[in-house]
Amino acid sequence: MTRLAGPNAASGSMPAGPTAAPGRAAARRQMRAVQVVTLDGPNALRIGPVPEPDPDGRVVIDVRAAGVVYPDALKARGRYQDRPELPFVLGQECAGVVRSAPDGSGFAPGDRVAASTTAGAFADVVAADPASVFPLPEAVSFRHGACLPVNYLTAHAALLHRGRLRAGETVLVHGAAGGVGSAAVQLAVAVGARVIAVVSDDAKARVARRAGAHDVLAVDGFAPAARRLTGGTGVDVVVDPVGGDRFTDSLRCLAPGGRLLVVGFTSGSIPTVRVNRLLLNNTELVGVGWGALAQQPGYLHRQWADLLPLLQRGQLTPQIGAALPLTAAAAALHQLEQRRLAGRAVLLTAPDEPEPAPAEHEETR
Ligand SMILES: NC(=O)c1ccc[n+]([C@@H]2O[C@H](COP(=O)([O-])OP(=O)(O)OC[C@H]3O[C@@H](n4cnc5c(N)ncnc54)[C@H](OP(=O)(O)O)[C@@H]3O)[C@@H](O)[C@H]2O)c1
Repeated sequence: MTRLAGPNAASGSMPAGPTAAPGRAAARRQMRAVQVVTLDGPNALRIGPVPEPDPDGRVVIDVRAAGVVYPDALKARGRYQDRPELPFVLGQECAGVVRSAPDGSGFAPGDRVAASTTAGAFADVVAADPASVFPLPEAVSFRHGACLPVNYLTAHAALLHRGRLRAGETVLVHGAAGGVGSAAVQLAVAVGARVIAVVSDDAKARVARRAGAHDVLAVDGFAPAARRLTGGTGVDVVVDPVGGDRFTDSLRCLAPGGRLLVVGFTSGSIPTVRVNRLLLNNTELVGVGWGALAQQPGYLHRQWADLLPLLQRGQLTPQIGAALPLTAAAAALHQLEQRRLAGRAVLLTAPDEPEPAPAEHEETR
């Protein structure tokens, strides 16, 4: 096992997007933003006024909600591969309303959108590259929309692109109450797979079941249990955002021709593998790097087009475990880092403003 520099080193990177570079700051209005000023983690975040972003050919969005993702925690400690210059505004995904958009971008003021960014989403206003801005269906609330871009598009790239998942196959998902994990559960169910979720406690088991998992297993002993559930055959695909010492057992529970998708390392350690295990049963280890795929022209919009019908039918509803005001970003990151979050954390810019929320009946707080 290779130990990482920090307890929670990451994989994957985000598509290009805005930072809060001051630019012609003096002429711009001020907004609230969650800034990383030193790489000392959540306690060192500064919530304060900064100039609104310069549009600079981008779509300017009034943020209503921002999703908190694992790489945010890593970035606040300087442990992510992408290290923006200090100070920078944290946040990689959000949903809101377009304030302005460049000609030819396909967006117009007043449009409801979701967006992914390299940074800048934990703020009242963000500017995002049109290539990573997506139309948000009326049926999807802002808080749900804010949780879609990073994790659902990663799950899409993992399962459908890299993992070649087909209807009728069986998928085992680690960290199934987490961001990538719960998205993978929902997407796999939506495409007709059988899903076995692996989680570490009862609250997370409930989240995985609400996401649609057919079976939920505890981390301890998951491999023999998964074999039993599949009549001894094993699973066709494993989604692994966790890594660490469960990796070899994940390989052991693959069916012949199975694929293990390497997504991340929240356990804090990068596993090593004896490759003879792969030839015994014609299995594959498959790397998933959504950030690199996202650089391909049109990739993100093609992914979103695939997800749109599922979103419109309510088949992809993020499991929200904590909806907090923007100013509580540090608390959200603490929960994430300490493995205490069952479901997603979302930050709201106007938490007292009621939003018609079509599909939020099933959430915990
Ligand atoms: N490859 C890519 O393109 C790509 C894209 C996006 C994200 N990622 C990576 O995917 C990973 C997961 O991100 P996420 O947003 O899903 O994170 P998350 O919401 O925090 O979920 C991660 C899950 O990991 C499990 N876990 C096991 N040991 C842990 C530990 N020591 N500390 C924290 N969690 C632990 C937890 O589940 P249990 O408690 O149930 O075990 C937790 O629910 C991260 O490493 C992230 O950087 C990769």
